[in-house]
Amino acid sequence: MAAHGMLRHMETREYADAGLKVTLDGAVATLLLNRPEARNAQHPALWAAMAEAIDSFGEEIRVVVVRGSGGTFSAGLDLALLDPSRAGEADSMVALAARGPEAIIDQIDVYQQPFVKLADPRFISIAVVDGFAIGAGFQLALCCDLRLVADDARLCMKEPALGLVPDLVGTKPLVEAVGYARALEICATARWVSGEEAGRIGLAQVVAPATELDAELATLIGGLTQHPAAAVRATTELLHDASARTLDEQRLAERTAQAARFGELAAAFQ
Ligand code: CAA
Repeated sequence: MAAHGMLRHMETREYADAGLKVTLDGAVATLLLNRPEARNAQHPALWAAMAEAIDSFGEEIRVVVVRGSGGTFSAGLDLALLDPSRAGEADSMVALAARGPEAIIDQIDVYQQPFVKLADPRFISIAVVDGFAIGAGFQLALCCDLRLVADDARLCMKEPALGLVPDLVGTKPLVEAVGYARALEICATARWVSGEEAGRIGLAQVVAPATELDAELATLIGGLTQHPAAAVRATTELLHDASARTLDEQRLAERTAQAARFGELAAAFQ
């Protein structure tokens, strides 16, 4: 029972074949990568399930939490997909590579969809990172608005070490979070970034011992959901698009959003 005697909507959806568990709890949706035996390695079925789940969220969802089960956020791309001996299997990246650049570009666009959807300003997304966040795992964390990271977590942009580039929407938020030079150094060396460093360089907004992540998450969610939903959503939209606008465009966006706020507040007073 929530405050004011309102019944809080709670629901769990299993996308078992995709290794995803989705929990809706009032204003908070949680996407749990749930294949701990493979360190929550990612594959196309998971991405499709994530995209479908996010699309299904209604206006009541204000916060989307992304986390991994079993003490690891995500070990990145499922390496079986890169195994030449398994090229006959559905979703093999080896088979995709043989289809040529246009097919590859179109297919990766599909794979990128859940990563893009996590930046939808109608909700605030939070990655809760413990254990490892490697490659696609690091990018998944980067696509969230905020990162809550365990101090002993280990993050790595492994793609260049495997002869690949980070292609799951992680490069832009990485550059925006830490700047071009630091982003380049992290990616080109494919080195480990500790949770403690992530906090220091602006990659993580909250750093805490792994045992305290749940408490820190509850505090963060409490803060993010305490103010009027429409005002927070409109502010999220303003900030989300700010870097893509000129100052004059941003000023106009502020005025336009405020006019909508005034209109709604005036209507509420009458
Ligand atoms: N894909 C598939 N299976 C994986 C996996 C992955 N990425 N990472 C781990 N697993 C599996 C292991 O094969 C192992 O399975 P079995 O028990 O059946 O042998 C199980 O998970 C446990 O793995 P470890 O024993 O290695 O666990 P650990 O806790 O000692 O180490 C780890 C964890 C550091 C994440 C280590 O498993 C690891 O380095 N994994 C590979 C990470 C990697 O290179 N990912 C690809 C990044 S690049 C990318 O993501 C590409 C892209 O976007 C384009």
